[in-house]
Amino acid sequence: MARILITSAIPYINGIKHLGNLVGSQLPADLFARYLRLRGHEVMFICATDEHGTPAEIAAQRDGVGVREYCDRMYEIQHHLGTGFRLSFDHFGRSSSDRNRQLTQHFAGRLADNGHISEVREQQLFSVADNRFLPDRYVRGTCPNCGYEQARGDQCENCTKQLNPTELINPRSEISGSTELEMRWTTHLFLRQSKFRNRLEEWIDSCDGWPILTSSIARKWLRDGDGLQDRGITRDLDWGIPVRRGNKDWPGMEGKVFYVWFDAPIEYISATAEWADANELDEAAWQRWWRTDLGADDVRYVQFMGKDNVPFHTLSFPVTIMGSGEPWKLVDHIKSFNFLNYDGGQFSTSLRRGVFMDQALDILPPDYWRWWLLSHAPEHSDSEFTWNNFVASVNKDLADVLGNFVRRVTKFCSARFGNEVPQGGDWSSEQSQFAAELAENVRRYATHMEDIEIRKAAQQLRLIWASGNEYLQTAAPWTSVKEDPARAATDISICMNLIRLIAVISEPFIPDFSSAIIKSLRLRSPAWPDDPEAALSAMTPGHEFDVPDLLFRKISDEECNEWQMRFSGEAGSNPPPNNDV
Ligand code: MF3
Ligand code: ZN
Repeated sequence: MARILITSAIPYINGIKHLGNLVGSQLPADLFARYLRLRGHEVMFICATDEHGTPAEIAAQRDGVGVREYCDRMYEIQHHLGTGFRLSFDHFGRSSSDRNRQLTQHFAGRLADNGHISEVREQQLFSVADNRFLPDRYVRGTCPNCGYEQARGDQCENCTKQLNPTELINPRSEISGSTELEMRWTTHLFLRQSKFRNRLEEWIDSCDGWPILTSSIARKWLRDGDGLQDRGITRDLDWGIPVRRGNKDWPGMEGKVFYVWFDAPIEYISATAEWADANELDEAAWQRWWRTDLGADDVRYVQFMGKDNVPFHTLSFPVTIMGSGEPWKLVDHIKSFNFLNYDGGQFSTSLRRGVFMDQALDILPPDYWRWWLLSHAPEHSDSEFTWNNFVASVNKDLADVLGNFVRRVTKFCSARFGNEVPQGGDWSSEQSQFAAELAENVRRYATHMEDIEIRKAAQQLRLIWASGNEYLQTAAPWTSVKEDPARAATDISICMNLIRLIAVISEPFIPDFSSAIIKSLRLRSPAWPDDPEAALSAMTPGHEFDVPDLLFRKISDEECNEWQMRFSGEAGSNPPPNNDV
């Protein structure tokens, strides 16, 4: 048994996430966590909301509520939707927690004590009308790179270039629209990342098992002049973690807060401490996951994130950890994802283009989405959601292949032998051969899951489902039952046990299906089939079951067309509840 720490990139608090966000970190992380638990490992699966920064403030202002209140409300919504998708976090924390405030201030203090922070006097945009500085998204203007007129101060949405507010042409305040902006002097803390170039390079080189997507982005940023520039880690804002040096004041930094990207990854650690607090456990309970001097040296730490998050996790956060000079656990493996596109374009939160987590659950249960998203995860290239593809795969994989197999076997068994596993005879050579092939297929599936090769794992799982149908079709017990009832009984017993096995191994992808079957089969948390051949006789003759209700319904063409229209993002078609800037 191993100990595995799993974190998913923490979603921004402002607004409900779309399916592209979901498949880019939280959902695959959940798949991996569920799989490892199923294999008997000790797992700590952590996520949280990313609550600081200008987007949260702006969204709260737009909604006319205080930012704390806004975050409280959105936290509940995001937490609830996570549960709706069956995301099995051990803890879903908040970056605005006391734990994260203390730990962020602690890290800043350590970094400063070790000489890794400099105080820089610089000029920043100040709005006279608003009487405040305008960091990051508080300013809009024309992108110097592509000419897009709505570019935000931190990044141009059109060409994705990272920006500084001062680089924008014709800047204006996002708050008042005022263009009466001037440059004023202010002092900020900078993390001296560039000093870590060699250590980072050595560390990244030593992580040879990383997916190519992760290591290529990490190396590119390390090499590019830009990537390792010293970064400003403070802002002139009210909302955020107050700048302090450990638990001491930081002269000259009064009224300033840490930059959201400084405190967000620290929340991975803080959320684990929040987990201990919520469960009334002591400090040692969470420290054994994070402190290599207190037990974390044998933890394997795996992070999940979209590709746009990779630089922060391969450069800045490791600098925070290394620079602290304390024995915190560094990540062992980073699984990153490309983007999921929506029907010929991008998902867009601001244009309400695409399907959002709340809407998805309003129209179909979580297993349908989990299956499609995971089996089409944008692992090795971007992938695309189209309604036709979604409906075709769900109808085929879940309804025709999996659902049908379970239905045919349980109904036939019930009609011919009653609601119990029938008494069969010894296995024929065909039956033994099927069992041997199944064992090989389950082994392959396990390998893909361990390697976090999600599409391959999904494909292999689908193959196991289909092998059940094929076996049933060839064995044709509805015919053999007439001449050779013992053989038909053996085949049905094998198929019933195959349903049990499938319910167990499919759980990470489609947990609701799995629990419905386990309930119908009147089982209590059956274990992973270490010996799949033996698992085909795990339920012995006389084991009673109930025929499950319809497991997966088919989606009609009319529904498909209606949804396609509704979510196209054209004016008025997809009205925003609660959504983001
Ligand atoms: N909120 C960020 C995003 O959605 C991710 C933050 S991940 C962490 O892109 F490292 F900061 F925690
Ligand atoms: Zn641009």
